[in-house]
Amino acid sequence: MTIATKAAGRPIPSPDLAAAARAGQALFGERRILGALEALHQAMGDAFRLPLPGFSSVVLVGPEANKFLLTESREQFLWRAEGDPVTRLLREGILVTDGAFHDGLRQLMAPALHRSLFERFIEVMWRQSDGITRHWRDGARVDLLKEMRRVALCILTEALFGDDFSHTVDALLGAIVRTIHYISPGPWVIWPGVPRPGYRQALLRMDEYLYDLIARRRAQTTAQSPDLLSMLIDSGMDDGLIKDQLLTMFIAGHDTSTALLVWALYLLSRNDDAMERARAEIEAALGLAPPTLAQVRQLSYLDRVIKETLRLYPPIHLGSRIAATDTTFCDYLIPAGTRVLYSIYLTHRDERYWPAPQVFDPDRFAPEHAGQRPAYTFVPFGAGPRNCLGAAFAQVEAKVVLARLLQRFAFSSVGRDARPRMRATLEPSPAVLVETHWLDGASEGYSVGLA
Ligand code: HEM
Repeated sequence: MTIATKAAGRPIPSPDLAAAARAGQALFGERRILGALEALHQAMGDAFRLPLPGFSSVVLVGPEANKFLLTESREQFLWRAEGDPVTRLLREGILVTDGAFHDGLRQLMAPALHRSLFERFIEVMWRQSDGITRHWRDGARVDLLKEMRRVALCILTEALFGDDFSHTVDALLGAIVRTIHYISPGPWVIWPGVPRPGYRQALLRMDEYLYDLIARRRAQTTAQSPDLLSMLIDSGMDDGLIKDQLLTMFIAGHDTSTALLVWALYLLSRNDDAMERARAEIEAALGLAPPTLAQVRQLSYLDRVIKETLRLYPPIHLGSRIAATDTTFCDYLIPAGTRVLYSIYLTHRDERYWPAPQVFDPDRFAPEHAGQRPAYTFVPFGAGPRNCLGAAFAQVEAKVVLARLLQRFAFSSVGRDARPRMRATLEPSPAVLVETHWLDGASEGYSVGLA
């Protein structure tokens, strides 16, 4: 297949009647948007137009499309879509900016996630896992989405903003979830001007919290170990721009990790063999004190579980770009202004690259299978110069939190089967409920003491 970027070619096809009917059945009959996308992909191939009124876009799928969009022709696409709720919310946050301004922000913020800081991050991840699970009683029923959100929020805010969020998390949780609803797919996709009352208060509360954090840090006279907040302040940015970066990290850095943690626990609690292997590995590799980075790296089976979870349920299942100029992909013309979506979910479930794609099989990621798939078939963190800034952080975080939970608790699944639902990330629906049971000796080495 040849890839070129000269501006000539045939239009990307719209679904024919049969494909549209199959997608319509998934959408309206089964209420599954992802099912509709799967049906369109199956019928139309790796490039198709999305026939939504008011939302003209094309969907590209597969390793070649990912390579084209994220690296090779990256300069021909913009991220920022004026008027989208994500842009309205994050204003000048790194995620929604382009060009030299984006690259400058990235250069400035990347050191806050440097590997040299990971030993400190791991201690935070370990301790916050203990803190959040402090109230889990033996035999208690727990809503994992809610609990993992609290863990992820406390980790992110302490690691990057130097704030102990554990006292604020419950008071702000409602506003945070509301903010996430604001940027989740909804009627605004096909009707961008749709009035969206009811969010103002939540968005204001988020701003209030972040501006207060900045003011407190500016007023601080004692030395603070360098973190993202101090790096942003030291750069000379004004408060508004700093707040945009903090809000971006706050949302991008916790909602995704929340989804990953919930799905991993959901899958483990339904796959006894994987659970036992993960537990045995953790027992052999870790003591009860926070692990070192080297110990975390030894958890190779847990690493496979995390990767397989990201394959099946990529928290960011779809990336979006706008063509800045006319361009072509595989002889298809993509005119300037076209919204181009790359589907991580469809690439991760394509049986050309993933045999039995619906099956949870962590050993797909065993070293002996490395190199068997083309590059860009596994892209949970995107790829290229705009890939996820927190990819390493998120994977270490997932390992540390899961290791700590599995070290202390047994989980028995009490809820119904979950299906992925499109919110800002792919969330399980209905809620993932589990019964948590203390394991023998689980309170030893407990970081925060039992309430
Ligand atoms: C499981 C967890 C995570 C997943 C699956 C994930 C996924 C992604 C993906 C797919 C992108 C690229 C989107 C695109 O191509 O448009 C992205 C970008 C980004 N992510 Fe993550 N992410 C995760 C965790 C995090 C964490 C923990 C942080 C911060 C600590 C973070 C910060 C960012 C930022 C700032 C960007 C924008 C980068 C840029 O535009 O240069 N993410 N993430």
